[in-house]
Formats: sequence, C-alpha cells, structure tokens
Amino acid sequence: MVREGMLERWPFKRRGGDLPYWIEPTFTIVAFSCFILYSLWAVMQPTGLYANYVSPYNSPPIGNWLHVPFPPALLVAWIPLFFRGTCYYYRREYYRGFGAHPFGCATPERLGRRYGGERRFPWVFNNSHRYWWYLAVLVLIYIWVDTLHAFVFPEGWGIGVGSLLMLANAILLTLYTFSCHAFRHLAGGRRDCYACPKAPQTPPARYRIWRRISEMNRFHGHYAWASMASVVLVDLYIRLLIAGVIPDLRLVK
Ligand code: FES
Repeated sequence: MVREGMLERWPFKRRGGDLPYWIEPTFTIVAFSCFILYSLWAVMQPTGLYANYVSPYNSPPIGNWLHVPFPPALLVAWIPLFFRGTCYYYRREYYRGFGAHPFGCATPERLGRRYGGERRFPWVFNNSHRYWWYLAVLVLIYIWVDTLHAFVFPEGWGIGVGSLLMLANAILLTLYTFSCHAFRHLAGGRRDCYACPKAPQTPPARYRIWRRISEMNRFHGHYAWASMASVVLVDLYIRLLIAGVIPDLRLVK
C-alpha cells in the first residue's frame, strides 16, 4: 500500500519504514559529485552539432554567436548552475549530504553547531533563487527551440533516438522548472486565504494554476534528479555520435 508522502520520498522510503538515514546523504554526495565533475568537463570541452542535435550545455549558443575565445558554454552554464545551486530541494540535499547539517530531520546537529537559517553570507545568496528562475525559463525556451530542430534532418522531418532523448530532456526540465517553489509562490503567494469572505477575490484561474503547481511541486525532487540525469545522457549521447562510437538510429525517416 502506498502511504501518504511515500511516493514523494521514493526511492528513500520503503514498505515498513525508512531506509537507514545515511543512505540518502551518501547517495546525494556521490550523485552530485559525479554530476558536477561531468558538467565541468562538458562545459570546458565544447561539442559540435550532430545533425541538428545540440547538447543542453550549449543552449543557447551565445558563445558561438559571439565567437568568444573561451569555451562558449561558459557564457550560459552559470544560469543552470545558480538555478540548481539555490533550489530549495537541492539545498536540503547538500546541507544534509555535504554539510551533515544535520543528516536528516530526526537527527540532531553536530555538537557545537546550530541551525541559523540563511541570513548570513554565503547562504543568504540562496534567497536569490526566484531571480534565477526567470533566467532559467529563458534557457528553457531555447532548449525547446533546439528540441524542435532535432526533428529536422537534411532530408526533412524525421525522428531519431537523439530527437526523442532531447524531447524527454526538455519535458523533464520543464517539469523541474515549473514545479519550483518560487514559481508556486509567484502563482499563488501573498494570499493568506483563498476562501475567506473578507479576503479580496482571487481569480479562480490563479487559484487553479496554484493548485496544479502544488500538485507538481510534491514531485519536485524527482524532477530534479531525473532532469539532472537527462542533461548528462543527452550530452553523452551526442558526444558518442560525434566520436562515431554509436550510430543514430532513425525511427522515422
Ligand atoms: Fe527547486 Fe526552484 S525550488 S528549482
């Protein structure tokens, strides 16, 4: 039986109770470290195009337009970096994983440490998350433009495995971006009550949007992990195509 809250915490919950508390932070440390190292390498080693496939690390290709003398992805990579780095979900994970601050909800802070919120440098910077959301939406628009181009081949429209991978990546990034806590606040925040007779009337459409985002928000952590994996997968796939290691299977010519 799936209990309340179990699905949101999958895969760290199991029937009959939680997994040992250290599994989640350990998983976070390993997965984050791999992702950060791979992303650094990918940004410093630009890829070209394969057919119309573009790596998500190079989208939008501002650096290519400007012909900058350094890896072009550097001009864009800081946006997803700060967007993910200040994400409320990631914060929870890296505070626990890298800082043991604390390891989990039910574990105490280490001796001599106290949780003081995010009021001091550098953690106060995390409060800029909502602004990174606006920039991330601009990047996301470009990811969708690239995804649509991935269905266009020299012979005309078609569908390749790369097109589908890019589509899956764009969908996951969209779910991640629009299930964001900051977007939820943007849609429905600054209201103490939706149904109070004395409260100013809230447009029903706004309430419905906020409800939808709230539903998606329950799975924000899942979208965070899945979109992180899909970004790496698409980049790796395009690199292997360019290197001639694998062929691009065309499903519809
Ligand atoms: Fe995670 Fe905004 S809270 S992206």
